[in-house]
Amino acid sequence: MAKIVKQIGEYKLGDLIIEGKTKQVYDLPSEPGHCILLSKDKITAGDGVKKHDLKGKAEISNKTACKVFDILKSVGVPTAFVRQATETAFVSRKCEMIPIEWVTRRLATGSFLKRHPGVKEGYRFAPVKHETFFKDDANHDPQWSEEQIISAEFELNGLKIGEKEVDYMARISVLVFEILEKVWQTRQCALIDMKIEFGVDTSGELVVADVIDSDSWRLWPSGDKRLMVDKQVYRNLTTVTDKDLETVKRNFEWVVDQLDHLLPPNDHLVVIVMGSPSDKDHCNKIKKHCQDLGLNVEIRVSSAHKTTEAALKIISHYESLNVKIVFIAVAGRSNGLGPVISGNTDFPVINCPPLSKDDVDRDVWSSLNVPSGLGCTTAIYAETAALAAAQSVGLTNYIVWSKLRVKRLNNYKTLPKFDQEFRNKE
Ligand SMILES: Nc1ncnc2c1ncn2[C@@H]1O[C@H](COP(=O)(O)OP(=O)(O)OP(=O)(O)O)[C@@H](O)[C@H]1O
Ligand SMILES: [Mg+2]
Repeated sequence: MAKIVKQIGEYKLGDLIIEGKTKQVYDLPSEPGHCILLSKDKITAGDGVKKHDLKGKAEISNKTACKVFDILKSVGVPTAFVRQATETAFVSRKCEMIPIEWVTRRLATGSFLKRHPGVKEGYRFAPVKHETFFKDDANHDPQWSEEQIISAEFELNGLKIGEKEVDYMARISVLVFEILEKVWQTRQCALIDMKIEFGVDTSGELVVADVIDSDSWRLWPSGDKRLMVDKQVYRNLTTVTDKDLETVKRNFEWVVDQLDHLLPPNDHLVVIVMGSPSDKDHCNKIKKHCQDLGLNVEIRVSSAHKTTEAALKIISHYESLNVKIVFIAVAGRSNGLGPVISGNTDFPVINCPPLSKDDVDRDVWSSLNVPSGLGCTTAIYAETAALAAAQSVGLTNYIVWSKLRVKRLNNYKTLPKFDQEFRNKE
């Protein structure tokens, strides 16, 4: 008898790899190394002891996970997520999963208070508190130390999970929390705590896998616990009526709606003004660094000395736009451009003179020694200027802030790798 091939949307499913309480995972023969995560209309709590059917839950969970992963992926967090497949499913890299829950907390609440008697609810962790739990429903997911995870000697898709990997995952957990905390701040919601899981894909890369949805976090609108909109509402129910389930579902829908209304991050522009077209290469370098950080960039040519009126007109033009502007002034020899722009706008101005080794200590002073009352700053390197611009934009733009945050984390991936290479050589 011919095998019946199950299909969802345009995707022909392969074998069922695993089925859990809330999802089925299917192989995806058309995309080797990938799978489909299909959500179920089920809500569960207490390691599956409490469970209910909840029509529409699969669609809501899937939408939430896809939106959250879209954001994380767009800023460079390594995730297994590939794309949404249907209303209730998404394509993911096929992973061998690390059986650990990585928990991060900004405020103490819930189980933390039971494990740490005396700590008051609402105690604020800075930095974010990080904890790990071994996934073992039968024993209620016991807390594990870093040493226990290392000692378990997990090996998944050829990757040994040692000290370096555990450290990296701990850092990514904190990073994911901080990014989503910033995202939720734009909707006046406080992210209280959350959990993520990691897997190793078929190429041996460690990635954030499984899902992140309303089951993964505590979310308090306006920072008010009484307004909670996460799964805790369901966990707290002693008896569960249809009306209760409707409330839980409405909360989850509200979360999806909020994620839909996240402010578009296209609210800024970095304007690189060069005093002479001969500075083109230097400006293009700055532009490239800016774009890598997710910044919108325009390059203009104008000289404060030679075409003063045109330079002022450029400033007026950008001031008239309803976006946040950062100017980067590029002028060699005597830099009049940055200070003149700075004296005629209240937007940030960063001087980035195209200095060469021979003239650095002669020319840089025209950027540094500015008249009183001017607030322009100076960056000598193209990358520094771009980073400084990104930090300004990142104050109100969570995408750019997150890219900076991921860049900082990547040092923990690349430098230990070089360190290891040098040790292997010796
Ligand atoms: N990208 C992936 N590749 C392979 N398996 C995955 C992937 N993402 C999640 N899984 C696994 O799919 C299974 C089903 O998910 P579900 O969340 O329904 O399980 P569960 O009943 O909650 O069990 P668990 O306590 O392990 O999460 C889990 O074992 C999860 O680890
Ligand atoms: Mg699960």
